[in-house]
Amino acid sequence: MIKTICVCGAGTMGSGIAQVSAQSGFKTILFDLDDSILEKAKINITNSLQFLCDKQKITPQQKESFFNSILFTSDNKNCIAEVVIEAIVEKIEAKTALFNLLSIQNSKSTIFATNTSSLPVTAIQKNVSHPERVVGMHFFNPAPVMKLVEVVKGEQTSESVLKEVFNLCEKMNKVPVICNDAPGFIVNRVARHYYLEAMKLSEEGVATFENIDKLMEASGFKMGPFKLMDLIGMDINLSVSQSLYKAFNNIKRFEPSQTQIDKVKSGDLGRKTGKGFYSYPVK
Ligand SMILES: NC(=O)c1ccc[n+]([C@@H]2O[C@H](COP(=O)([O-])OP(=O)(O)OC[C@H]3O[C@@H](n4cnc5c(N)ncnc54)[C@H](O)[C@@H]3O)[C@@H](O)[C@H]2O)c1
Repeated sequence: MIKTICVCGAGTMGSGIAQVSAQSGFKTILFDLDDSILEKAKINITNSLQFLCDKQKITPQQKESFFNSILFTSDNKNCIAEVVIEAIVEKIEAKTALFNLLSIQNSKSTIFATNTSSLPVTAIQKNVSHPERVVGMHFFNPAPVMKLVEVVKGEQTSESVLKEVFNLCEKMNKVPVICNDAPGFIVNRVARHYYLEAMKLSEEGVATFENIDKLMEASGFKMGPFKLMDLIGMDINLSVSQSLYKAFNNIKRFEPSQTQIDKVKSGDLGRKTGKGFYSYPVK
């Protein structure tokens, strides 16, 4: 029975996933190495719950109790749970090291879910001591709003773990879709060209990025590609481009754009740094 969920990484995704977990009635641990990120996550979650309260979607009492059910911590010794969901840096060595570290202090049945956008779940499994308990749980940004979760079956993921995570997503009021491990899973592979072609159009001077956004939004997309890249984070988006490019043997159609490489080099990562394609007030 799942009572406690530990979310590792309190950045863009982790703070949202922790909020989802708390709102779904789970005792939640939100772990990050960086105390200043934990402070930011506290503010983001408070603001997000306040917004729901103002919209009368939750009561003030619920707001308090959801927030109070989250333990914010930078001490990995507190990471004891039935399900660990990692949303840390997009590096395979970091993810496997974290899973191996936490497996020592957790029970033999703890599930280790990765929110990776682009790393193969099977590759993570190859480097951990408990591969059958590793699964992909790919939330979308912003996690409290977006319904879809790709539940990714690595080569060694057990059927019972897959089922348990599927059920967990439903308890979180999400729409889980099971898919096999493949580069970019489903959404990121389909959506890659939304970003890459948009950047090409702008690089070729066909239109400004603002106008491309306007046009795509007017044609029915909720967010234009440039606004969406700012929300995702340029570093994360570039990692996904690079992973797909590599996985498809460097075929041209998945080649990362120079624009995104330059943005990462200059540190203009999007909303999280206050500047990407657009500028944002720094919180
Ligand atoms: N940004 C998106 O739109 C998006 C969407 C879906 C999935 N993802 C995936 O989610 C993961 C996180 O992405 P993000 O955008 O939230 O990144 P982010 O940079 O906003 O946050 C990552 C956080 O992880 C922390 N961290 C790094 N190493 C750690 C460790 N060993 N232990 C604990 N904390 C650690 C960092 O301090 C940082 O706060 C990535 O795997 C990414 O591919 C991102």
